[in-house]
Amino acid sequence: VAAAPSGFQPGGRALRLPPVGFGCSRYRDGTYVTPAMGAAVDAGYRLFDTAELYGNEWRLGDLVAAPGGPDRESVFLVGKPWRTNHGPGDLREACTGSLDELGVAAFDCYALHWPGAWAHRGALTRLSERPVEEQERLTMPTAADGTPARAPHSLVETWRRMEALHDDGLARSLGVCNVTLPQLAGLTDAARVRPALVQVECHPYRPRDALVSWCHRHGVRVVAHSPLSAPGLLDEPVVHAVADEHGVSPATAVLAWHCTRGVVPIPSTTTREHVVANLAAPRHPLADDQRDRMAGLADPAFQR
Ligand SMILES: NC(=O)c1ccc[n+]([C@@H]2O[C@H](COP(=O)([O-])OP(=O)(O)OC[C@H]3O[C@@H](n4cnc5c(N)ncnc54)[C@H](OP(=O)(O)O)[C@@H]3O)[C@@H](O)[C@H]2O)c1
Repeated sequence: VAAAPSGFQPGGRALRLPPVGFGCSRYRDGTYVTPAMGAAVDAGYRLFDTAELYGNEWRLGDLVAAPGGPDRESVFLVGKPWRTNHGPGDLREACTGSLDELGVAAFDCYALHWPGAWAHRGALTRLSERPVEEQERLTMPTAADGTPARAPHSLVETWRRMEALHDDGLARSLGVCNVTLPQLAGLTDAARVRPALVQVECHPYRPRDALVSWCHRHGVRVVAHSPLSAPGLLDEPVVHAVADEHGVSPATAVLAWHCTRGVVPIPSTTTREHVVANLAAPRHPLADDQRDRMAGLADPAFQR
């Protein structure tokens, strides 16, 4: 597995991750990225961000198991249980179900998709092949008043169940997504097996500086989800200017910005040229002045 980019010094026992990964989720408009996963394996991606919510773990399993597919130990697999599966039994079933679909014995990192728990409505096996209404019913439980139907599992209680999966060898490391810094610090204090990876929405509009520097001080790797899809980001004049200085596309400049700060972006794409170009972004580290100019895009009020 490739090392982090030079210049980045993770804490002593930090996970070694490839500098860029491939995001396996369906797009926000519902288009599935599944067909591009083969192109990603062929292009040389070795970090895959999967989740039971994405419904296509089986596809990655087929690609890894295929003759000529990548050696299992060369691939870093992140898996994520959906927030309807935090309960006793449900979390373990989600984990073993995902591992079965992937055809592997353990995740390299198993990360809670969200810190908050929702009501369980059934297993999410091969979700992408189910009718859309059933996907919605299973993954977005609603209470009588139309708000999400919550479940009474605290983050620490759910984490104890995650630790048991780690103890049993089903997850080589543990992580958590979509947390605030206070939530992460509190969880870290309470944990016996500490979070080794944190995945959050991160891009130049929302750089998450405090969270990133806390993580790097504590040897926690930060993975940036949705690194390119913030509306307007790829049209920003400063992004174009930095891209032109490197002779690359605006998307490559944004991904290079992540890599230069030691954050691992996991872009998703269905376009073959983008699959290849995104993987090459770490070859274009940004100079300090370029990072400073990109920092001007930070917008504390940014909301999707
Ligand atoms: N943990 C969580 O809660 C969470 C939430 C959201 C996402 N994620 C993870 O993050 C991954 C990525 O997030 P995302 O899917 O929201 O979006 P994203 O990767 O930020 O952006 C995808 C969009 O960018 C375009 N794109 C990709 N490469 C490009 C390039 N080189 N040039 C121009 N456009 C390019 C894609 O279009 P084309 O297809 O045309 O390239 C697509 O419209 C997901 O797949 C998932 O693994 C995790």
